[in-house]
Amino acid sequence: MNKLIHLTSKNHSIIVKVDSIPEIIHWGGKINEVDSDLLFAIERPISQARLDIDVPLSLCPELGRGHFNAPGIEGHRNGTDWAPVFQIIDQQIEAQSICITLRDDIAQLELLVELHLDHDSDVVKKRITVTNKGESEYYLGKLSSTLPLPNHANELMTFHGRWCQEFQTQRQRFEHGGFMQQNRRGRTSHENFPGLFVGENGFSEQQGQVWGFHLGWSGNHELRADVRSDGRRFVQAGELLFSGECILGANETYQSPWLYGCYSSNGLNGISDRFHHYVREHIISFPTDKPRPVHLNTWEGIYFDHKPEYIMQMASEAADMGVERFIIDDGWFIGRHDDKAALGDWYLDEDKYSNGLEPVIAHVNEKGMEFGLWVEPEMVSKESNLYRNHPDWMLGLESYHQPSGRWQYVLDLQNTECFQYLFDRINDLLTRYNITYLKWDMNRELVQPGHNGRPAVHGQTKALYALVDKLLAQHPSVEIESCSSGGGRIDFEILKRTHRFWASDCNDALERQTIQRGMSYFFPPEVMGAHIGPTECHSTNRQHHINMRGVTALGGHMGVELDPVKEAEEEKAAFSHYIALHKKYRDLLHSGRSFRMDVADKNQYVYGVQGEDETIVTVCQLAMPSYALPSPLRITCVDADAKYAVTLIEMPKASFQLMKQAPKWLDQTLTLTGNNLQEIGLILPILDPESALIVSLKKI
Ligand code: GLA
Repeated sequence: MNKLIHLTSKNHSIIVKVDSIPEIIHWGGKINEVDSDLLFAIERPISQARLDIDVPLSLCPELGRGHFNAPGIEGHRNGTDWAPVFQIIDQQIEAQSICITLRDDIAQLELLVELHLDHDSDVVKKRITVTNKGESEYYLGKLSSTLPLPNHANELMTFHGRWCQEFQTQRQRFEHGGFMQQNRRGRTSHENFPGLFVGENGFSEQQGQVWGFHLGWSGNHELRADVRSDGRRFVQAGELLFSGECILGANETYQSPWLYGCYSSNGLNGISDRFHHYVREHIISFPTDKPRPVHLNTWEGIYFDHKPEYIMQMASEAADMGVERFIIDDGWFIGRHDDKAALGDWYLDEDKYSNGLEPVIAHVNEKGMEFGLWVEPEMVSKESNLYRNHPDWMLGLESYHQPSGRWQYVLDLQNTECFQYLFDRINDLLTRYNITYLKWDMNRELVQPGHNGRPAVHGQTKALYALVDKLLAQHPSVEIESCSSGGGRIDFEILKRTHRFWASDCNDALERQTIQRGMSYFFPPEVMGAHIGPTECHSTNRQHHINMRGVTALGGHMGVELDPVKEAEEEKAAFSHYIALHKKYRDLLHSGRSFRMDVADKNQYVYGVQGEDETIVTVCQLAMPSYALPSPLRITCVDADAKYAVTLIEMPKASFQLMKQAPKWLDQTLTLTGNNLQEIGLILPILDPESALIVSLKKI
């Protein structure tokens, strides 16, 4: 065979060499025309003292062919067929995609490798399907998607985190050896976000070649980046299957989750640009195209203390502040007075809501707001009617002790009766009440997740998708927020059926700056739930002035998370101010091109959103400035030839401690050309730690 297949997108090329097996030989900048001698130019020598054959780093690297690093497929048939070697039997090639079928007749396995390069976003997605063509069962251990990297990709940026500290980044050299992350928590997890970046040495927000990866999957995963001893390198990602989790009978198939990837020659901004574009076009679908409504969520305002009259007062205050969607969080259902009981009993607590939920919803609606409700369908408390009636619906292993997590347990969604019960209950709520939004929570990890004794994370994850899909099919105008103790379930696959993420339970604006920055590499602002909390943050006890809280929240899908009834008039006026500012800019924020800038001050984040006619840039001073004076901010994303009206649209109102005289331009609008802004820049005031400002650049 031996030929080259050239897939092209708007800016990029992928070239696949198809010999006996397919191998990507280029993924990066656009190739105008593939040279006829290219096949010769890329022929590898064979080194001494190793195998006498060349071993391609194929689309599914095989142990059986002499790939000594992580293979793409692992498994066995009662101890045999554990090192398959595949040959191509069919290929479907289109301008942007290839689907290659491979078979090993000895091991009796068939693979379908699908690779699609999206034209407009340049995002590539890949998945593999395996079919057991034999009569006996095949025990699949692993089926992962592999994408190669060039040898100059020698620096890694990975993610770690925990509750209240999602999306933390870490850099490391990527030369010899590699990196591996295994997530066994049964949800996407705070700890192991399934994404990473590999780039040339020193790649930054604005500079350098980078390749970005994300596995769209909400269960367990393995994500790795390997450097072979011959220098070739690759990223590989797939579902982490427990022993015995996937046993394929005759003609049964297993399909891997999609691995998404993209390349950028202009640093991480080029990556987030592409992922955001892709998410907007192909992942998220909002039921309406109206602006994302500003939320008030009751959790930190009242916790479990639900009094309908008081909640209606909160709603009135919320509406006055400009809130557009009012969400009652945990505590509304029967027996739910604290976090130790009642999960599973999805019926209104009529002791608390003696006149029903209807008057509250009617009040919220009269105030011009939509109504949303918190649920946590996958969970059960031992102290609940559901558990008392169906103890066997719990996910776990018989005869073992199942530890509680937040005092609760997971339900077995593959149990069809349990699935139907959950569908019926949520369906009933959505039918009975005028609910347009569900905050769908999931607050614990899966331990010994067994269904009929077998490992069940795969099945549980699929069943969750099916449950959400079925509910949305019945109620297509309802929006869902994916929450999992904050950001424990944030990924592309769950986003196909949800509309917002609660990025973190941490409402501390300083922590949020880093969490939101990490999240912004993959997800656009309109799906990033960001709320103004009270002055003293509930999860850290740190205090922040409203300027820092307001600016931090207004850059995402904004909301407030507090009790407005208890807030002073001055604070409420400030909430209204930031809500109004958000509304003024939300079309831009939620459709523009997000970017982050490389800056001289390591204690500063500078980021913004670029629209057709206006760009806004936020400068957040996280800690003491690194230098006594700020360096000019050179804004590169403007058009060199255009003229801009430059105005400060948000500043800390408190007195400045580090500055006795501000630059004079702050009170006026400057007219500057893009060329001057790019090359010389703008000098900003000295910001005190934990404060922020926003500049607008409007094309004249
Ligand atoms: C989780 C969520 C919170 C809140 C509580 C309610 O912790 O992340 O936002 O909804 O559950 O119990």
